[in-house]
Amino acid sequence: MKIFSNFKLRNFEMKNRIVMAPMCTNFGITSEKAIDYYTKRAKGGVGLIIIENTSASLFEDDIFVSKITQLSKSIHEHGSKVFMQLSVSPHTIANITRADINEIDLLNELTTSEIESCIKSLQKAAGVDIIHISAGVANTSDESVTPSKEAPFGVFSDYAATIKRHVSVPIISVGKNHNVEICESILHDNKADLIAVGRPLIADSNWLKKIKEGNIKDINNCIYCNNCIRSISKGNYLNCTVNTIENRLTSSGYNR
Ligand SMILES: Cc1cc2nc3c(=O)[nH]c(=O)nc-3n(C[C@H](O)[C@H](O)[C@H](O)COP(=O)(O)O)c2cc1C
Ligand code: SF4
Repeated sequence: MKIFSNFKLRNFEMKNRIVMAPMCTNFGITSEKAIDYYTKRAKGGVGLIIIENTSASLFEDDIFVSKITQLSKSIHEHGSKVFMQLSVSPHTIANITRADINEIDLLNELTTSEIESCIKSLQKAAGVDIIHISAGVANTSDESVTPSKEAPFGVFSDYAATIKRHVSVPIISVGKNHNVEICESILHDNKADLIAVGRPLIADSNWLKKIKEGNIKDINNCIYCNNCIRSISKGNYLNCTVNTIENRLTSSGYNR
């Protein structure tokens, strides 16, 4: 299967083509709970984990940096790579998903000090393989970012393909890449180099492991109800409708 082929970009290497998409948990990314949650997804075999959106300014705190080092180490121990999604300023993000594409540059130009702050974060982010500068996650409940139940599988893969035709950097396709057939067809048709999977990995940390071991029928499938998004939008811990075994470990939502 193509999804299990390795990926190399200069000295960066991934053991397979599956990326865990960045998804806010409200666990506090340096908490034991977050480390447990991400480590579990690394154990589940994904090639790369993109840690949820985090403010670049937090890297000014040395304790935070040491905890991030611990988080990265824990993920690396299971052979997954680590990206961190950094946002640089709230106004950068606020309107981008609704903005007219031609106005984005005007709305969201980074200041020199924001760029300097990102460079500092990058230098401090011990153990993190790559920093992902984010420009559009405030409206994760917006279906232009997180497609609904009604949206087709692989919904954004044609956009990825269009971008891929115009650039020479690797492209990651995201959006209801629900099962192995969809992931394989995106790679087979050369629409993207890597496949990001979000909610299916909330619903089942072993989604990829089960595919690899041929236990597809045992996958705890995401039903795209978006309860997870609603839970974090209210400021609660991430909560998943179908991951009941894990939910019940705490009264306040998702535990491991
Ligand atoms: C609970 C939740 C939180 C999310 N948080 C982020 C985030 O922090 N940064 C981001 O870029 N996208 C975020 N997203 C969007 C996902 O990264 C992904 O693009 C989206 O869920 C579509 O992929 P999927 O259909 O595989 O879930 C979030 C999505 C969900 C469901
Ligand atoms: S809450 Fe619903 S949409 Fe979110 S991961 Fe669980 S099943 Fe999927």
